[in-house]
Amino acid sequence: MKKHPLPRLDRDQAIRARLAGVCRLAPGEVWEDPRQGHRVGCLDAGSATAVARLCHTDGLPPATLAIHDPPYNFVAFEQRRVDAYAEWCRQIVANTAAHLAADASLYLWTGADQNNGFAPLPEIMAMMRDSGFTSRSLITMRNQRGYGTQQNWMSVRQELLYYVRGCPRFQPQYTDIPKKVKGYYKDISGERTENTARGRGETLRAGNVWIDIQQVFYRMEENVNGCYAQKPLKSILRIIDASSAPGDTLLDFFAHAGTTLLAAELTGRRCLTMDIDPLFCEVTIRRLENYRQTGRTGWQNSNPFALELGQESGA
Ligand SMILES: C[S@@+](CC[C@H](N)C(=O)[O-])C[C@H]1O[C@@H](n2cnc3c(N)ncnc32)[C@H](O)[C@@H]1O
Repeated sequence: MKKHPLPRLDRDQAIRARLAGVCRLAPGEVWEDPRQGHRVGCLDAGSATAVARLCHTDGLPPATLAIHDPPYNFVAFEQRRVDAYAEWCRQIVANTAAHLAADASLYLWTGADQNNGFAPLPEIMAMMRDSGFTSRSLITMRNQRGYGTQQNWMSVRQELLYYVRGCPRFQPQYTDIPKKVKGYYKDISGERTENTARGRGETLRAGNVWIDIQQVFYRMEENVNGCYAQKPLKSILRIIDASSAPGDTLLDFFAHAGTTLLAAELTGRRCLTMDIDPLFCEVTIRRLENYRQTGRTGWQNSNPFALELGQESGA
């Protein structure tokens, strides 16, 4: 395995200065993929005009699914008041609603800081009540690594809120977990059956607690060094398969490592995505290009800029 780790691209000013010249997008610009029609914008999700620049339909049907993963660390570090953060999220949701089909799904990743009144989860839930979307599920994804002290339960959860408007598609999803435990007897047409006989699949149907998804770390092919908040591809694929159809358009206003864009490519959807940071826009475009060239979903323990940083030869 190649070892070319990168520090966090948002924080390391020396690396940012070295890579400034390689970014294809300047703030305000949009990259168009000639092959699948994906778009990546270097835009601010809080601006209605910026979002409109990304989301114009060009005669295609509007998006049926949005998957947003806004940063909330500034709430955790109390750099922004939680009520101001919830108002910012309200604007993001309004900007999304303006470009979604009448029947559409919206997934919002968020956090619940146990050391700060579980912010911002309750504020986001309250804000969403008059957003025009209906609540459908509160999903918890279990991380493998946690944080906390011996004086508290280790925190291993990530929260995912699922909302709909109208009546969008929903396809049940199945985990890789075999059905092992028998039980839940029920009489059907006079015959006693147990759950393994009644179920549709050999494995468990995914519920609203996901324990079967590996958190991204440097040994996984999909790892993108330099990113600090990359979601597992498997989690995004599950959402896409459940809540959209091949050929649909998807929105993700917080691209970062480009996970939703790659998942859209893998499943035959079109993705309109943005990031406010030109470096993460470049990572997102390179992740798609790298997949098309190599079939690999990430750089494992290398990184998207190894050539420019002199860590790898071009050969
Ligand atoms: C939590 S990460 C998203 C992770 C992503 N789901 C993935 O799997 O890689 C949040 C991203 O939002 C970007 N961001 C922060 N503020 C933004 C804004 N106002 N508009 C667009 N992007 C923003 C950050 O640069 C960061 O890359």
